[in-house]
Amino acid sequence: MTDIIRTVAGLRALVRGWKAEGHVVGVVPTMGALHEGHLSLARRAKAECGRVITTIFVNPMQFNNPDDLKKYPRSEDADAALLQWVGVEAIFAPMPEEVYPEGFVTTVTVGGVSQPLEGALRPGHFEGVATVVAKLFGMTQADRAYFGQKDWQQLQVVQRLVADLNMAVTVVGCETVRDPDGLAMSSRNLRLSAEGRRRAPALYAAMLAAARDVRSGMAQDQAMARAAEAVLAEGFSSVEYIALRDAETLGEVTDPDRPLRMLAAAWLDDVRLIDNIAV
Ligand code: PAJ
Repeated sequence: MTDIIRTVAGLRALVRGWKAEGHVVGVVPTMGALHEGHLSLARRAKAECGRVITTIFVNPMQFNNPDDLKKYPRSEDADAALLQWVGVEAIFAPMPEEVYPEGFVTTVTVGGVSQPLEGALRPGHFEGVATVVAKLFGMTQADRAYFGQKDWQQLQVVQRLVADLNMAVTVVGCETVRDPDGLAMSSRNLRLSAEGRRRAPALYAAMLAAARDVRSGMAQDQAMARAAEAVLAEGFSSVEYIALRDAETLGEVTDPDRPLRMLAAAWLDDVRLIDNIAV
């Protein structure tokens, strides 16, 4: 039976017991509205840890737009049923007051990697993410934490946070789960019209084509511009960025021998889609 825990004290008591029994504890941080992408992280955690906690918390601090926060889908009962099926031992689903009690003033800012791309377009977003993730690590005392490559920049921010603050948790980055037509799974995909959903895989397809262009010697800027044109031609309303970056620092590519990552954000049907691939 999957336990649903609401308080930090309850969570700590549970984890203390598990650790006394010698279990490796895994955590999968989420904001709920779970789909197969989230469940793949939970399954990986189950395979590698003796006990697994999934956290479900729609973190107000990481939303730069209050309307986006209000509209964020919530489906705790369905989420709990899915997690029970995967076999996670506990769900930590606190109220905002439990996470941010009266008097809360400490925030975590990760420099460098949080600044470009999503960081520039969503001011305060990564500060909210880094703060809540640091708190979730503190609350759960997890040995291993599972994040999706779908949010590549977020994964790099979390890796940097853990390294810089010497946190005793191993961060595991898991492959992006896609629908059969290539669209990266996201709770936002449900907001696409039928026509939009049909067009949405064009983003991933254009990125794959651009990666092939770069590998066959096309100038990077030209390949990225071509990809943006292809996406707009498929009916996307705008492209915020399609960029080739250093995979770890997310800075401009200065050393092409280091791993590179192509990242994109684009709008379709008033839905903001993001994706990324290895190059
Ligand atoms: P959320 O958007 O709910 O995502 C939770 C985790 O699921 C993240 O690590 C995300 O990268 C991963 N994920 C989402 N879609 C995926 C897909 N298609 N394939 C693989 N993994 C996928 O990301 C957050 O929540 C929050 O910022 C959080 C880290 C919980 C902090 O509040």
